[in-house]
Amino acid sequence: MPTALITGATAGIGAAFARRLAADGFSLVLVARDEKRLTTAASELHRRYGVAAEVLAADLATGEGITTVEERLREGVDLLVNNAGFGHSGADLDVPVTDELTMLRVHCEAVLRLTMAALPAIRARGRGGVINVASVGAFFPQGTYSASKAWVVTFSESLALRIPEPRVRVMALCPGFVRTEFHERAAIDTSGIPGFLWLSADRLVGSAMRDFARGVPVSVPDPRYKVIAAIARYVPRGVVTRVSAGIGR
Ligand SMILES: NC(=O)c1ccc[n+]([C@@H]2O[C@H](COP(=O)([O-])OP(=O)(O)OC[C@H]3O[C@@H](n4cnc5c(N)ncnc54)[C@H](OP(=O)(O)O)[C@@H]3O)[C@@H](O)[C@H]2O)c1
Repeated sequence: MPTALITGATAGIGAAFARRLAADGFSLVLVARDEKRLTTAASELHRRYGVAAEVLAADLATGEGITTVEERLREGVDLLVNNAGFGHSGADLDVPVTDELTMLRVHCEAVLRLTMAALPAIRARGRGGVINVASVGAFFPQGTYSASKAWVVTFSESLALRIPEPRVRVMALCPGFVRTEFHERAAIDTSGIPGFLWLSADRLVGSAMRDFARGVPVSVPDPRYKVIAAIARYVPRGVVTRVSAGIGR
């Protein structure tokens, strides 16, 4: 039975990956900080899908937490989903630098170290891979959040190009707005976001898994966001910057 390790597996997109991969017959390793919530999620997944679900409590904003997860990955998994992440409320210039550094640690350092810990065993087996959850925000200049997600996209895309094994995949997943706990946790006001732009986590993961199976290096699920991402990636940067400034205001 293949094994998948998912970070941020107790809520939102990570929980949707856990449900989907359990339904596909993966044994799971669930990572997040809240151990009680992890245990509840693991029991529920085991009861509903009959799969083994292991709990690994770790704070990926700490070196120690990242090391704990690296050690588990070196034992071997078939699929790693680097999903844990968070947002900040408020204008970029007002966010304390220490909070920005914490974000870079969770969104970049943890993703780098966990990917590199998982890949040797996956490559040795010749199948499986890594899904790194980025954001459509990666294509717009919107503070450290979007800069960290742009790093995730470029890092994943370059690994996907360089890995020689045809059945080993690395993919960046770029969601638009998804209904999860993300915005509430960050105290981000979502009242101005039109209803039609919201995605469901389960449908997002369904599209992501289809793209992963096809070997797509950068997955942007949903036609609305494909158009937005294509505009951001291919129109002149000056236009993207002006649009981002408008959104920022
Ligand atoms: N929702 C959106 O609109 C959206 C859009 C684009 C991209 N994304 C990206 O999607 C990913 C998942 O977000 P989500 O919307 O599903 O958020 P969410 O509902 O808030 O869930 C976040 C998950 O990450 C875990 N987590 C947070 N900080 C952690 C840390 N330091 N160490 C370990 N685990 C941590 C949380 O559990 P604990 O609190 O117990 O640790 C939780 O399981 C993030 O990378 C986010 O940037 C989200």
